[in-house]
Amino acid sequence: MRFGYFDDARREYVITTPRTPLPWINYLGSEAFFTLCSNTAGGYAFYRDARLRRLTRYRYNNCPLDSEGFRIYIKDGESVWNPGWQPVQTGLDRYECRHGLGYTVIEGEKDGVAVSQELLVPQGDDCLLMRVTVRNDGKTEKKLRLFPYVEFCLWDAMDDGSNFQRNYSTGEVEVCGAAIYHKTEYRERRDHYAVFWADRKPDGFDTSREAFIGVYGSPARPEAVFGEGCTGSAAHGWQPVAAQQFDLSLAPGESTAILFGLGYIENPRDEKWAAPGVVNKKRAEAMIARYAAPAAFDGAMEALRAHWDALLSNYRVSSGEEKLDRMVNIWNQYQCMVTFNMSRSASYFESGMGRGMGFRDSCQDLLGFVHMIPERARERILDIAATQFPDGSAYHQYQPLTKKGNLAVGSGFNDDPLWLIAGVDAYLRETGDWSILDERVDFDNDPSLAQPLLEHLRRSFDYTRTHLGPHGLPLIGRADWNDCLNLNCFSEHPGESFQTTGPSEGPVAESVFIAGMFVKYGRAWTEICRRLGLEDEAAAGDEAIAAVEKAALTSGWDGAWFRRAFDAFGKVVGGKECEEGQIFIEPQGMCVMAGIGKETGEAARALESVRERLDTKYGIVLLQPAYTRYHLELGEITSYPPGYKENAGIFCHNNPWIVCAEAELGHGERAFEVYRRTAPAYIESISEIHRTEPYVYSQMIAGRDAPSFGEGKNSWLTGTAAWTFVSVSQAILGVQPTLDGLRIDPCVPAFLRRFTLCRRYRGAVYEITVENPDGAEKGVRSVTVDGLPIEGQVLPVQPEGARVSVVVYMG
Ligand code: GLC
Ligand code: GLC
Repeated sequence: MRFGYFDDARREYVITTPRTPLPWINYLGSEAFFTLCSNTAGGYAFYRDARLRRLTRYRYNNCPLDSEGFRIYIKDGESVWNPGWQPVQTGLDRYECRHGLGYTVIEGEKDGVAVSQELLVPQGDDCLLMRVTVRNDGKTEKKLRLFPYVEFCLWDAMDDGSNFQRNYSTGEVEVCGAAIYHKTEYRERRDHYAVFWADRKPDGFDTSREAFIGVYGSPARPEAVFGEGCTGSAAHGWQPVAAQQFDLSLAPGESTAILFGLGYIENPRDEKWAAPGVVNKKRAEAMIARYAAPAAFDGAMEALRAHWDALLSNYRVSSGEEKLDRMVNIWNQYQCMVTFNMSRSASYFESGMGRGMGFRDSCQDLLGFVHMIPERARERILDIAATQFPDGSAYHQYQPLTKKGNLAVGSGFNDDPLWLIAGVDAYLRETGDWSILDERVDFDNDPSLAQPLLEHLRRSFDYTRTHLGPHGLPLIGRADWNDCLNLNCFSEHPGESFQTTGPSEGPVAESVFIAGMFVKYGRAWTEICRRLGLEDEAAAGDEAIAAVEKAALTSGWDGAWFRRAFDAFGKVVGGKECEEGQIFIEPQGMCVMAGIGKETGEAARALESVRERLDTKYGIVLLQPAYTRYHLELGEITSYPPGYKENAGIFCHNNPWIVCAEAELGHGERAFEVYRRTAPAYIESISEIHRTEPYVYSQMIAGRDAPSFGEGKNSWLTGTAAWTFVSVSQAILGVQPTLDGLRIDPCVPAFLRRFTLCRRYRGAVYEITVENPDGAEKGVRSVTVDGLPIEGQVLPVQPEGARVSVVVYMG
């Protein structure tokens, strides 16, 4: 069942009922000011950091769901409704929500009154704009009341949700004309405030929640709306809010638009005050003035569209396969931008309080983002690298506001260092900007320890090289990519962290997955060394890699697939001798991507085993058989009920590894089949089963062992976005950035007989036509650039500004 449809021409998903299976959200903002906005205008806003600079409140785990947001109430006689249906839930005569790239438009209609609520975060500014247009479609004059309403968060979302004894006494606001200023803690340590404004003077306002909603009222029944209107309340402590009232009278056919804004302002310390106790509003007034002209909102929308036109023009395919084009050209790249911005911090499943930017997560996000804005990727690489420890290991997470590592989680996740090589390698392939390797970057955020980025990569590689276990495979530490395979942690008591209880230094537990990574990204490292003339270092590195590769094919090989690991007692994890958890997806994907066993047959055999044992109609599950009881020696993975999350869920992130691995072996049909099964546009028609948004990937789909087989969870913030983009844009469609230029090597299903691609790369545009007359799965017969044949499959790098036409014949 569908709850809407794709409008590709406008690059929107159009939701036609507010009763979606779950709130279906969008992200507004892609620089510093961010808003999560659901299809009913639920959500919240923050500046840079969802934990430390939260502007408006959101109550996770609430009932009903999605209670807080950017609300508009319409009072038409006795009838009260919201254009987005929530929170009053009055039935509407018409409803539609359009989630576009960086904006959302919600339209509701009732009794001849049509309201549209358009939300966006303008480029280059720290605010949310919300234009509300009300039109009288009836035959008689309408007298209406319109109320906007948001609830402020007292900045630190964690503290806001727990430190009530203090917070109920600290809230402060100022009201000045059509603007409400939220200035809690501004008197002492904060130099920032929030402002909610309207572009015309309201007929009333409230800033205290008790006054607007009522102590025992609710957002579904605000006392001011249902009763006599706003009271002009000033919040002193308790819950500061911004609510306003507009009394409108509209002739038949008449419409009126009010522009609202929610802004974030920082003042220099010595410019904080206009008068004792009075906030200096200069910067806020300038912000308000920027959007005062009636055309300003449309201008901001135009700018946003132009921005996305440019971003998406870096990679565009036209294949005749509508769903493929839609995912590649619009939604997959859009999700890559969002995951790049958010890492795993703020979604409807990530509270924005627990995790900041993940080291491995953000490094992987780069893989799907670097072609869009390489300069921002560069900056991110340097930020991440600065949280690396001098021995090459890394903080597992850091806060985006401070860019400092989180001590609470610490380090010891032994895959982390190698992801840094992956990210930097992708950047070099995309840009050819070798100067990044000379940038001096702190270790442990300590400037006295700064070294060139190259040295960071060296230490990443060396960390793994020097942390091998008894079988010559890399030691796993706290965990590798699979956060829940905690082989050195033995958590027996509720409330303990599965991941950090126990030592990270286990001298025995080894990971075959990291072995695959070491071969794949280790080779990237030695190639970089070669290019820099570091021959001896490259040769020594290759020797270390060969030894680990050999270990993967001996101790790491189970006979028909790659084993997963050895536990702290030296026992096999992910082998046929195991009662449960006999085969895992991760080492099959990573080892084959690394080319391990490609020549000798193990790679093909491993992928056959994946198909035989892990395939389901909704995607490939992480492992089989699912664990049915808790294994102290394996950790969190066995704490999940069978079929969920890492315990045999369809963990979408590693499905594209199998796509890449299949393509590595030339299996175009199979690669596409795996791609298709989890691609949102292809499963839109089962939205009632999948439940999460049909335009983005979720982290996990319940596996076949779960009662809710096929149900998605944790939508939006997942490494799936980046990896799927890599798998479809590089492995399937075959446009692969290399250190020397774009390599063209498609691996496609036979039905794709012809497709064209437009790729902007290092400042030049490549118009590529792939002809596949015989329905080959892989193999390139000839390549011409502007009509002239070239040797091999790597397109010579073109000068900036050039536009060339490339024709590739497969077969
Ligand atoms: C989550 C984490 C990621 C981890 C994965 C598997 O998605 O963000 O870091 O690799 O789970 O455990
Ligand atoms: C849990 C989740 C995993 C996530 C991790 C983050 O272990 O199952 O997916 O990566 O938490 O710490």
